[in-house]
Amino acid sequence: CGIVGYTGMTKQSAPILLKGLEKLEYRGYDSAGVFIPSKNADADVLVREKGRVADLEALVATKQVSGTTGIAHTRWATHGAPAVKNSHPQYSADERFYLVHNGVIENFNELKQTYLSDVEFQSDTDTEVAVQLISKFVNEDNLSTFDAFNKALVLFGDSAYGFLLMDEHEPDRMYVAKRKSPLLIGVGSDFNVVTSDAVAMLDETHDFIELLDGEVAIVDPTQVQLFNEQGEAVEREPFHLDIDASETDKGIYPYYMLKEIDEQPVVMRRLMERYFDANGQALVGKAILDEMRAADQIYIIAAGTSYHAGLAGARMFEQWAQKPTQVYLSSEFAYEQPLLVEKPFFIFLSQSGETADSREVLQNINQAGYHSLTLTNVEKSTLWREATYALPLLAGPEIAVASTKAYVAQVTLQAILAYALVDSQVANLDLQDELSEITVGIQGIIDDKETFQAVADELLVPETTHSAFYIGRGVDSTVALEAALKLKEISYVQAEGFAAGELKHGTLALIEEETPVMALITQPKTAGLVRGNLSETTARGSHAFTIVTKALAQDGDGYVLPDTNPLLAPLLSVIPAQLLAYYTSLGRGLDVDRPRNLAKSVTVQ
Ligand code: G6P
Repeated sequence: CGIVGYTGMTKQSAPILLKGLEKLEYRGYDSAGVFIPSKNADADVLVREKGRVADLEALVATKQVSGTTGIAHTRWATHGAPAVKNSHPQYSADERFYLVHNGVIENFNELKQTYLSDVEFQSDTDTEVAVQLISKFVNEDNLSTFDAFNKALVLFGDSAYGFLLMDEHEPDRMYVAKRKSPLLIGVGSDFNVVTSDAVAMLDETHDFIELLDGEVAIVDPTQVQLFNEQGEAVEREPFHLDIDASETDKGIYPYYMLKEIDEQPVVMRRLMERYFDANGQALVGKAILDEMRAADQIYIIAAGTSYHAGLAGARMFEQWAQKPTQVYLSSEFAYEQPLLVEKPFFIFLSQSGETADSREVLQNINQAGYHSLTLTNVEKSTLWREATYALPLLAGPEIAVASTKAYVAQVTLQAILAYALVDSQVANLDLQDELSEITVGIQGIIDDKETFQAVADELLVPETTHSAFYIGRGVDSTVALEAALKLKEISYVQAEGFAAGELKHGTLALIEEETPVMALITQPKTAGLVRGNLSETTARGSHAFTIVTKALAQDGDGYVLPDTNPLLAPLLSVIPAQLLAYYTSLGRGLDVDRPRNLAKSVTVQ
């Protein structure tokens, strides 16, 4: 879900807020809303709608809206089904306070019973409890809005929130609070903005003040007052975000996902430029490398696609750098920490830098005094700031929910790190050279994209195909997981990625006539075995499709990839999988960029 707020002297706020919501659409949501106070309270406008931002815009267009301040929200349901009544802004019974919220107030039921038993609730949300509570403290305890807000925040304890509150008695002012959920204040000359994602407000400003957990702010058109958890005033200079706003536009593309697939060669070049010197030596800070060298074991922590990138990366740390490496899902590691080695080093992989489960782990290991490195696409994000070290993925804003270029950037940057760890360079590997060739290879696959449209139509037939399998051995088995996830996320085909040798131990029972089985064959050591496993499925009627490197190709293979170092093969083999998922989704008439039920950045645990 996403938050935007605007307070200014001249411009109308509604178009700015609605455009901001459009920019946040990619994060995934199921309803949206906006509140624009007017100097004359009777003319306040609250519009909320289930479904798309476009539906909200259409509704706003039917109203008389005038105002230079406002707050808006896209909601991804956690408590209460997607419905108008549950969308934000939520408001108090006296219709004086309006609140948008990202996060979850964990003790909201308790608070409701203790403080608000006399209030009639309009929604099922935890957010309404928060706004009713603030209103109660103002009306019954005679507190100022600021004091009532702070009093309520204390009651929320350690819950996650990004709050943006308006009091219609002060129509130019926004009250802001943050804990665990990202929130930034953007500063302008005669206006200020608040947003959960800088991307939403890049048309207005590139200068942002980061808020830390527990901080509260009062934002007026020409002033930002910031307070720490103890209520003391805090001064913080804004940082300048160097992103070209046009990078967040779709341009000529029908979908962001296709644009982002197409951008992958550019991302590879950007990474090479940044992380190699003129002699092809990897450029990674000495402190990072020293810590990694000194560690007994590397722990990679991530979720979703980033986890899959970690699985591929671990093999390079182990095989090139001889450094034992374990990869963990952050949502598991956070609550059942494995027994650690004496000198661990942690690598966090995260496109957004905000995933709540990953942050939970980072906070735990920070407390224990361990050191870490975050590889993320979003500089200044939470995981960036809170890790000992951070390196940028340089993939540029990734908007489509299904991650593509961030995966490629994560695998590439891990390759560079692993390579940098090897004192006497890995035998027979000039990484820069290899990555350059891979970049050309990726471009070649992208240029062939129509092939995958045809394959998707034939292999993953819209009317009849409901399940599919990707198989592979070695690092190919990790790409199989990512390939299957892509298909699930955007085409809703039930797909599984499997270590090919394991299929016969149960999963083979699912193979029926025409079940698609896509085999990834890029590892010379096991190519023959995978082919064997694949024929076990064709013998039972499967519809097989192979994605295979040139040296291992045979007649009848589905798609042939250029040859490369086996551990770098994921950078090539993932591209056909991305394209197959894209065209399968397209062929089924689905919204490729905004799959149902999913969010781009998951800031709830
Ligand atoms: C969400 C996204 C996935 C992503 C995962 C981890 O579920 O939909 O595409 O891989 O979060 O996100 P992160 O930003 O930490 O890489």
